[in-house]
Amino acid sequence: MKVITESGYPLRGTVSLPGDKSISHRAALFGALATGHSHIENFLVAGVTEKMLDALTALGVSYTLNGTTLDINGKGFAGIEPAEKVLHCGNSATTMRLLIGALAGIGLPAKLDGSEGLRSRPMGRVVNPLREMGAQIETTEAGTAPLQILGMDGKHLQGRNFALPVASAQVKTALMLAALQGNSPTTILEPGPSRDHSERMLASMGASIETVAQQGKPCITVEPLQKHLTPLEITVPGDFSSAAFLIVAALVTPGSEIVLQGVGLNPTRTGLLDVLHTMGAQIEILNAREQHNEPVGDIVVRHSRLHGIEVSGSVVVRMIDEFPVFAVAAAYAEGQTVVKDAVELRHKESNRISMLCAQLTEVGISVREQPDGFVIDGGAPVTGGIADPHSDHRLAMSLLVAGLDAQGPVSVQHAEIINESFPQFLDSLTHLGARFDVV
Ligand code: S3P
Repeated sequence: MKVITESGYPLRGTVSLPGDKSISHRAALFGALATGHSHIENFLVAGVTEKMLDALTALGVSYTLNGTTLDINGKGFAGIEPAEKVLHCGNSATTMRLLIGALAGIGLPAKLDGSEGLRSRPMGRVVNPLREMGAQIETTEAGTAPLQILGMDGKHLQGRNFALPVASAQVKTALMLAALQGNSPTTILEPGPSRDHSERMLASMGASIETVAQQGKPCITVEPLQKHLTPLEITVPGDFSSAAFLIVAALVTPGSEIVLQGVGLNPTRTGLLDVLHTMGAQIEILNAREQHNEPVGDIVVRHSRLHGIEVSGSVVVRMIDEFPVFAVAAAYAEGQTVVKDAVELRHKESNRISMLCAQLTEVGISVREQPDGFVIDGGAPVTGGIADPHSDHRLAMSLLVAGLDAQGPVSVQHAEIINESFPQFLDSLTHLGARFDVV
């Protein structure tokens, strides 16, 4: 599928966002590990979460999915059955990393694999600490998938104290799921505040998980489970990372004013809002409220004149998935924007520094790659052009947002990759007034 933008159409109106990807993954998996029936509304139905559900089916867990309502029959850790086939995680690193932690903790033999893209992503960051806890896991020599978890013959993992070199919620969650099944407490010290959905959700299910600040860094203590996890009854908030595309779309398209309803506003996710505010963005939060242990609210966005900024330090992890679309905001902002301390972007769905810089250049944005980030000279008209997201869903959507006020069309090839995380992306923008040709 090729999608071509038409520029000059202001965005106006109200939309709701599909469920948060991270919370949906966790709700499905933690629901399966709880004992009893979990009921989850506004579950994200998309390519990556389908992979999690397929894996759970292979592990003997049953569920029904009616529209976006997921009902899952949790079997408890002990009720998970060995899969007869390889657990294929597609493009979903969250599926693979969270399953590794849960299954290694249970001591259940399993084989996991994924797409070519997922096979190139680092798994050593999960596997090595699990090995320290006593798990036996085989990977390729490069520390990547395909990988195999070996059985534990009834032995339990040992609790450990970890200081993670990289702030990663996937690694943290994998270790927490293993630690819940260990024989002594585990502590996980993070270099910065990665998303804390797992801590919130598992604590609400009865797990003993506590976070304290240690020299300004989050340190999480996980006690081995004393009783079963209780099932979930939740509505998943709208995905802030999906909202980010619409937020930047409205900011850069003259005449726009939009409302995004029921969006997750967990502070470990909303670094982009802080940065955009500093750049001069007119963004307001209405109806701020708590929904099943997660902050949510409605976001009002108006077209704004933005100026360049430096982004570095601890905000980077709080907006780790938003850099592709942030780069588009920077291209439309007056002056220079510098991104530093973001080398982790090289390990995402694509090398999100090299690939982002290459594809933004294709559509006429002035960007220079740096070892740990990039520099954008903003304010010049975006000329338009032909780009290829190289199987990166967020890059595909960001390039289309770049075309909304460009001089000429932006044409994005292989745009079907958008369905991995935000299948309603084009419909939502079209509902707000944008126009695209889909070929
Ligand atoms: C996620 C954590 C982040 C993020 C990914 C989802 C999660 O990855 O980029 O899209 O759900 O835990 P890392 O943990 O690798 O930073």
